[in-house]
Formats: sequence, structure tokens, C-alpha cells
Amino acid sequence: MGKIKPLKPRSIHRCQACGHVESKWQGRCPACQEWNSLVEEMDAAGNARTSASGIADGHAPISIVDVREISASDRQSTQIGELDRVLGGGLVAGSLVLLGGDPGVGKSTLLIQALAGLARGGRVLYATGEESVAQTAMRARRVGASDARLAVVAETDVEKILAHAKAEPPAILAVDSIQTMYTPLLDSIPGSLAQVRECASRLMQYAKTSGVPTILVGHVTKDGGLAGPKTLEHLVDVVLQLEGDGGPYRILRAHKNRFGSTQEIGVFEMRGAGMAEVTNPSAHLLAERPIGAPGSVVVASADGARPLLVEIQALVAPASAGVGRRTAAGVDGNRVSLLLAVLAQRASCDVLDRDVFVNVAGGLRLAEPAIDLGVACAIASSARGRAIDAKTVVFGEVGLAGEVRAVPLCEQRLAEAARLGFTRALIPAQNRLRIENPMGLELVLIDRLVTALAEL
Ligand code: TYD
Ligand code: MG
Repeated sequence: MGKIKPLKPRSIHRCQACGHVESKWQGRCPACQEWNSLVEEMDAAGNARTSASGIADGHAPISIVDVREISASDRQSTQIGELDRVLGGGLVAGSLVLLGGDPGVGKSTLLIQALAGLARGGRVLYATGEESVAQTAMRARRVGASDARLAVVAETDVEKILAHAKAEPPAILAVDSIQTMYTPLLDSIPGSLAQVRECASRLMQYAKTSGVPTILVGHVTKDGGLAGPKTLEHLVDVVLQLEGDGGPYRILRAHKNRFGSTQEIGVFEMRGAGMAEVTNPSAHLLAERPIGAPGSVVVASADGARPLLVEIQALVAPASAGVGRRTAAGVDGNRVSLLLAVLAQRASCDVLDRDVFVNVAGGLRLAEPAIDLGVACAIASSARGRAIDAKTVVFGEVGLAGEVRAVPLCEQRLAEAARLGFTRALIPAQNRLRIENPMGLELVLIDRLVTALAEL
């Protein structure tokens, strides 16, 4: 028998487009055929990584029960409660966070406010490739985020940013935005997939080896994905998405969170002096509700785990062009068409030949089926010209047979309604079995849409 030769560690060339790995550099990736996409991976010390190295901490195996959990003291607070909540309680040491959203939604504004809060815990480095330092300073002053420990640099070369961070280690590093960054190690242009991936990967290595939490801002493409960053989502620890639908309100969600729940949401309002936390969103959203007007109904929705009371408005008007038009803002238009058909066929409320407008007040988007009953009631209320009692809240999913189906988080929805002074709730009959405490609300159990219309 011949001698067994030990395997020689091979260097790693990873395709920045598809993730394919080769041991030798090649001009074109054999897997996805992308040119110049293979990049040799380096470790933190700048040596070529080999197949023998990886994400190892050099420790011997340890019983999983003995591994220390991440505690509150390992997290840094942004001093913005709504943001800390979505992060799972603050920024975790060594974590890489991606903050995504449409251009202009308020990512840079929220970021600079968060950095000012984080600066209480030490020096923060904010690298921007989007604006000059003068613009950044002006914005910081405007939103009350001027802090001597907040250092800003206008730079798009990620190697230079890392050099700044190594020369004077910050408590937090933020890079705005990942699409404007480039590394001279690659030939491709900034914003290209290869550059975005390589820059993010360089910053990840920095975060993991230094323990400095690092925040990346990422733009969203027209189709709703994080540009390039779709491939970044598996690389980073946390993906936060800032959403707005025209109005002043913004919702922050965690699409991925290795250190917390993805059910929490944060609510903000964009004002003249930056992003303001909305700690009591239901009260805000109901503030301008017209009392006693037909077509207005309050639904108890639940976004993630957070109950929100929202006003849904409907207006049913004579058709302007022979055939009825439907316009929906904040709710799915197809869902509205379905509910109109169910109203007509199962609840003797036929408005198919009229114009129907449905709107969620405050510019929020509601995507859960539990708002069905509210949308249907608002339409019926407008069609009949009868207002719905102002202290009644409604929720339930409506099926094609006109049945009203159970929804999750019933007790949380009722608790939020009780907290805001509502006295009566129309809820799916099937949910009654699971409710231990109706919180002082009069519960009206609904099994069919037609029953709900009779109760209003
Ligand atoms: P910005 O944070 O620059 O968005 P992003 O980084 O996501 O592209 O916010 C841009 C918008 O926000 C801009 O249209 C102006 C508005 N804005 C305010 O309304 N109030 C403010 O205090 C600031 C700084 C911006
Ligand atoms: Mg910006």
C-alpha cells in the first residue's frame, strides 16, 4: 500500500456573483460564466485563506449548555426605543446589520440619529459615500445628532475606511451606502454585484474579528429586493427594512435577525427635525378619525406581533363611467374585489356597478387577512349611508362562502382596543374559545359576514 499524502491546504477563490469556489484563479467563473468574479479570500491578517481555515475561534468543543448567552450588557443601545426593539434589544458586539429601504425613505436620517445615541458609549465612525461631510454635518445638526464623538468621513474606498477604523478603533462603524463602496482589489465598478459582495464581505471580516458592530445601508431596487444585497442577506446577521407608503409614517421591520425576533416592528414619523418615535401608534393613527361618518371603521390589525388600531375608510359612489371602478390604497386591490363579490353574493350588499374607493388612513400598508371584515364593513357602511359606532372595533378573515374565520393574536388585538377606550368588538366566533379575558369589551361573535352587517 502506498503512503497516504496529507492534503495540502488550497487557497479559496470565491465567485462574487454565485458563490462558487475554485482553488485557482480563473478569468471566468466555470459555474455562472461571470467574467472576473473570482476573488481570493483573505483572512483578517491579510493572508490568503485556505481550505484549512474558516470561521474558527480556536476553542475545543464545549457543551452547548455551557455557552454563555448574549446578555443585555453585550448590547449597545441606540437610545431610540423603537429601533432597539427591532434589533432585539440593541446592537450586538461584532454584528453586521444591513439597513435597507427605498431612496428617500429616511435611512440616513434614522442612522445618524442612532449613531448619535450610540456615541454615548464611545466614538462612532460614520463613512458616507452619498454625501459630503458638510451635508452630513448639516443634517446631523438639524436632527439634533451633533455629537463630538460622532466622526464622519466622506469615502468610497472600503480599504481606506477599514484603515481609518484600524488606526482609531471606533465603538461602532457605519457605512452609507454599500452600493457606493468599492475595493481596489477588484476591477469592477462600484455598485456592481462583485463589488457590493466583496465590500460587504471585507466589512463582515472586520466586524467579526474586531467585535465592532457594523451597520451597512443598502438601497432597494424597483422590484423590492435589496440591490445586490439579496446576496448579502445570508452574509449579514440582521436585515432591517424601513418602509413608508407616501404618508409621514415609517415602519421598521427585521426580515432577518440572528439575535432577536423578526416579529417586532418599530414605528416612526418623519418630521422636520428627523425621525420621531411613535410609541403609541394606534392613538396617532386614530387621531383624525371622523366620528359619525359612514364608511369609516376601526380594525384591530396585528403587524408582526404588534397590535395596531387603524382606521379603514371606504367611499361608494355612483359609477362615473358606466362600469364601477375600484381604487385601493394601503390594502390589496384584488382582496377588495374579492370582498365586493362576497358582499354582493353572500350578504345582499351589491355595489358591483358603483365606484368603490378604499383607503387606510395614515398611509400604512395592511397585508393580513384579519382586516377583511373591516374592509367589508366599511364598504357596506358607505353603501348604506350608516355610520358605524365609534367605540366598536372589528376584525376577522372573510372566506368566499361569506364565512368569518378565526385570526391569530386575538387577545392582543382586544387588549389594544381596550387600552384605547373601545367598548365593543366584532370578532370571529371561532376565536371566542381561545379568549380567557375579554378585557371588559362587549364581544359580538360573528360567524358570517351577513351577521356582522346586521350588528352594525
Ligand atoms: P434620507 O434619510 O436622506 O433618506 P435615505 O437615506 O433613505 O435616502 O431622507 C430623505 C428625505 O427625508 C428627504 O426627502 C427629506 C426628508 N427629511 C425630513 O423630512 N426631515 C428631516 O429632518 C430630514 C433630515 C429629512
Ligand atoms: Mg441616504
